[in-house]
Amino acid sequence: MSHPAKAMHNHYAEPAATPYGPVRAQVMNQASFDAALNEISSWPGYAPTPLLELDHLAKEMGVAKIYYKDERGRFGLGSFKALGGAYAVANVLRENIAKATGLNTISSAQLLSGEFKDIIQASTVTCATDGNHGRSVAWGARLFGCHCVIYVHEFVSQGRRDAIAHYGAEVREVKGNYDDAVRHTAATAAAEGWTVVSDTSYPGYRDIPLDVMHGYGVMAAEIVEQMKNSAPPTHVFAQAGVGAMAAAVCADFWLQWSDKRPRFIVVEPTEADCVFRSLEAGKQVVVDGSLDTVMAGLACGEVSDLGWAILQGGVNACAAIDDAYALDAMRLLANPQAGDQAIVAGETGGVGLGALLAARDHADIRQTLGLDANSRVLLLGSEGDTDPVIYKQVVGRDAAEVLAS
Ligand SMILES: Cc1ncc(COP(=O)(O)O)c(C=O)c1O
Repeated sequence: MSHPAKAMHNHYAEPAATPYGPVRAQVMNQASFDAALNEISSWPGYAPTPLLELDHLAKEMGVAKIYYKDERGRFGLGSFKALGGAYAVANVLRENIAKATGLNTISSAQLLSGEFKDIIQASTVTCATDGNHGRSVAWGARLFGCHCVIYVHEFVSQGRRDAIAHYGAEVREVKGNYDDAVRHTAATAAAEGWTVVSDTSYPGYRDIPLDVMHGYGVMAAEIVEQMKNSAPPTHVFAQAGVGAMAAAVCADFWLQWSDKRPRFIVVEPTEADCVFRSLEAGKQVVVDGSLDTVMAGLACGEVSDLGWAILQGGVNACAAIDDAYALDAMRLLANPQAGDQAIVAGETGGVGLGALLAARDHADIRQTLGLDANSRVLLLGSEGDTDPVIYKQVVGRDAAEVLAS
């Protein structure tokens, strides 16, 4: 089935032409990526997520290789987001301990030891979420033992609310969309003396979202390690909401692979294509409206400032796709070509494959993205069935049935 889709080149050079440079390094840098990897890999239950090779799907799509980084198993939370929010919570608590005791080299192991229980229990973290980020903040708060209040907007599904509450957070609803919830959270936190652990930066608020993004870098660092004996991909498809994940992966690959870094393609819903529109305009543009899309994690109208600092020079092309492609991708991953393994991807997880399907249907998009029989494509499978009810409605079977097949 063919659906409408659009793609663009931005006006920046091919990857080889632009070094990462000191200005971007003030935003995201190798030392901070290493620090995040060091801490997060020390947490209980840490294991790298698999990088799958889908050779039969690659043949079907007319490319040489498809790699799929499957984040479904990340710390049992179902998405890569487990890396960012929880790491930022740990850093907030470290900072609170430093303020109270003057000790500023507290490790995650010390946070978990109970030594600073009183200071940790007196701390409250909060955020606005469309699901996965709030789950990560709530999980981090429970892991380390502080209080947590999570704001959801009215379109967040019950399944996603329940998953956050499961980690002991208080879940509160805000009328409106994600951006309304962000504004409400900032105002309440200021009044109550809580710390906002947001994945979105704005003027005057950047340290915590930067921690979130450096946490996401663990996913990219694992990919680089998993591919150390293979040629790097030629294309990476990174789905973007506020663009924090895409920017973290883009920055990490740029630092690690420099002039061999892949073409960086940002994938967004047509109803919430703020990166596409910002690149087109040459400045950050806000997309208004309901931001109505099944790709729940991508329903964002505004690129994060920090994300923008990396993406505006790092993105080679954007693909904006309709919901139908995201749903087709979920079904295709669940019903693989003989020889490939079945994959459980949620509405936001299989979106990179959605863009590949759009490129298969539209020759102009394939050409714009520079896809051909030699392309080695990396897809970021950013979530599993984070809402199992929606997953079953779309795919017709639940995750266990798909994986057993
Ligand atoms: C599963 C999933 N993938 C991708 C994204 C996009 O991340 P970002 O908002 O950092 O662009 C999100 C955001 O919530 C998400 O939940």
